[in-house]
Amino acid sequence: MLILGIESSCDETSIAVVEMGRGVRKIHSNRIASQISTHALYGGVVPEIASRAHAECISSLTSLALGDAGVTIENIDAVAVTSTPGLIGSLLVGVNFAKGLAYAQSKPLVGVNHIKGHVAAAYFEYPELEAPFFALIVSGGHTSLTYVKSATEFEGVGRTRDDAAGEAFDKVGRVLGLCYPAGAQMDLLAAKGDKHAIKFAPALIGDTLDFSFSGLKSAVINYVHNSTMRGEEINRADIAASFTEAVVSSVVKNLERAYSKYRFDTLVMAGGVAANSHLRQGVSDFASSHKIKLCVPSVSLCGDNGAMIGAQGYYEFLAGNRATLTLNAKASSGKAAF
Ligand code: KG4
Ligand code: ZN
Repeated sequence: MLILGIESSCDETSIAVVEMGRGVRKIHSNRIASQISTHALYGGVVPEIASRAHAECISSLTSLALGDAGVTIENIDAVAVTSTPGLIGSLLVGVNFAKGLAYAQSKPLVGVNHIKGHVAAAYFEYPELEAPFFALIVSGGHTSLTYVKSATEFEGVGRTRDDAAGEAFDKVGRVLGLCYPAGAQMDLLAAKGDKHAIKFAPALIGDTLDFSFSGLKSAVINYVHNSTMRGEEINRADIAASFTEAVVSSVVKNLERAYSKYRFDTLVMAGGVAANSHLRQGVSDFASSHKIKLCVPSVSLCGDNGAMIGAQGYYEFLAGNRATLTLNAKASSGKAAF
């Protein structure tokens, strides 16, 4: 089955053609138009600029994605679009475009939860991956630990109480003079530093599987401000490395807790921050020590993209979760994020 996957929840417009079926999970095309350079001027995503940029390119990007895949819109079997969560104006561009396309071409329409989409990115490179499994989602807007009961039924067991992991990387990066979004630059900077140079305590929330990154972020910001006020030179690489170590350590500690409670044998790590090389190493060490099968998408599939939406759209379609033309965008998908 050929699915057109449409993603526009934040600052990346992406259109993909994916083929999904029994024994087939293939990306035929995955075009991404990033707005990062525009938003970098403002130090973060400007919602109004984001929606306009999506509207400007979504139609031509679709033609390019279909062309790359060597198909026409007539060959597409279903249209899948991110409908929640995200920036409302950005989501609306994708949802309305998808509705127009589905209506004009008489194609089935499927609304996809962006977070579930991130997890679905793992299906392409792990052909044997099937629910049930555990998923750690670490992105710019969300950080959660989830039991994936079936491809479409997610049960959140832990989530961040404050900042998402990516948000913390971006804010700490900004204090270290890096431009938005700082995550990937922090990764490189941390590789040059000593992770034991400064002790930043990883936060764990009581006896729960929840995360917290806000206190850690503030500790790093205070460290930088205090050092600067005392006229001391700061070592940016050591700070990046020590902060990253605290993030990795809190994620791994939470995974250890989750493992002792749920004894899962397969773990998917997904979302933009899953691209972090230090986190990949830490989670991989955790997985090997318990003989857990770890499935992490390639770096290029960790960030927002249409292929992951197409993959999740396929499973939603199979489960009968088809949308009508009343499909609407929702900025928040609720407390549990599903
Ligand atoms: O999943 P994503 O593309 O968008 C959301 O759904 O939020 O995640 C974007 C986040 C940004 O905060 C970005 O700085 C972070 O992922 N990120 C990274 C890395 N690459 C992207 N964070 C740490 N290390 C990286 N290598
Ligand atoms: Zn995302």
